[in-house]
Amino acid sequence: MSRSVQSPRVINIEDLRRAAKRRLPRVVFDYIDGGAEGELTLRANCRAFEAVTFRPRCAVATPACDLRTTVLGIPLSMPLILAPVGSSRLMYPRGEEAAARAAGAAGIAYALSTLSGCRLEDVAAASKGVVWYQLYLVGGRDCALSAIERARAAGFSALVVTIDTPVAGLRERDMRNGVKELLSRKLVGMLPFVNQLLTKPRWLMSFLVDGGLMKFPNVAIPGQGPMLYADVTTALEQSMVSWDDLGWIREAWSGPIVIKGVHTGDDACRAVDAGADALVVSNHGGRQLDGVAPTLRMLPEVLASVGDRIEVLLDGGIRRGSDIVKALCFGARAVLAGRAYAYGQPPHPDTQSGGNDKCHHAHPHAYAMRPDHHLGMIYQSQNVPERKKCENYTRDA
Ligand code: GLV
Repeated sequence: MSRSVQSPRVINIEDLRRAAKRRLPRVVFDYIDGGAEGELTLRANCRAFEAVTFRPRCAVATPACDLRTTVLGIPLSMPLILAPVGSSRLMYPRGEEAAARAAGAAGIAYALSTLSGCRLEDVAAASKGVVWYQLYLVGGRDCALSAIERARAAGFSALVVTIDTPVAGLRERDMRNGVKELLSRKLVGMLPFVNQLLTKPRWLMSFLVDGGLMKFPNVAIPGQGPMLYADVTTALEQSMVSWDDLGWIREAWSGPIVIKGVHTGDDACRAVDAGADALVVSNHGGRQLDGVAPTLRMLPEVLASVGDRIEVLLDGGIRRGSDIVKALCFGARAVLAGRAYAYGQPPHPDTQSGGNDKCHHAHPHAYAMRPDHHLGMIYQSQNVPERKKCENYTRDA
């Protein structure tokens, strides 16, 4: 496989981030890029990866790397899953469908957020690969039950239950940018903030052509229809998931359940006892409770508690293929990444071909996240036993 990346402007995720900053209105960019309060955890997630160094073995032939793995018994082309990112359709037209399509073409799984702009049926139809449905209980139990049924009928293969949103994260950038006011659709309140939309006319035009969306089609509130964007903060606060909820969710969904938002070994045990099939060590990318420990640092504790009983995934701070390798070295089965792909623009459907050069050209960020180069450098042999591979890192901090 050729390693050439043809666009000189976008080589890595940070390049994509800068491009997103130019392309999107501040309020949309900051929604993706930002975290809660002082963004300590957001930064700490990335720093935890930076603090890990490799101990490579040299002078050993590395003919090729096989990145294939399975998660919940499902084969993936590499240990990466696109994390649920709310409102991807604000970032580019039909954003969730585009991301699911790209993931399917690359042979990896895509997790669709409850708070998405595209209908879950359309997202499942857009992907030729594995799709998971992330569940919030916004809109109440009946609303969640109907989404679960729709997800089952549409072919979603796992349910991701997010447990770290008892309240909405205190996102200071959103407050400064007037998210609440812009969503209120009350002209006087909106006025001080509309300029950030008007100064990005290309984005604004594509947003309007895409329907100017302000509703969540997968949150169908009985008797009312799709939930409005303006109601999302209150709805999230009224709809926290508790361990007791896992009981009725388990009854309603017979497939695998992934619990996302586990921070500690204690909660990992509770998740397993509650019937989880896999869990994600996640602090919501630093978007919920600021000041919690970075996920990579918590991974050993979680693995020590439940690593022999359940598959443990991780998200938060994944920006490079080498970060994926580090998470695997620490014992994660696979990782989820959200911002890394949300910064990007999806490739045009016609140019997707599942990992060849054309695909790299159209979708260089998918290439930037491939861990095979790093794996090749570090393992230096395809036949290194699993246990030995894990010794090949040094934790500095
Ligand atoms: C939604 O899950 C968000 O983090 O904005």
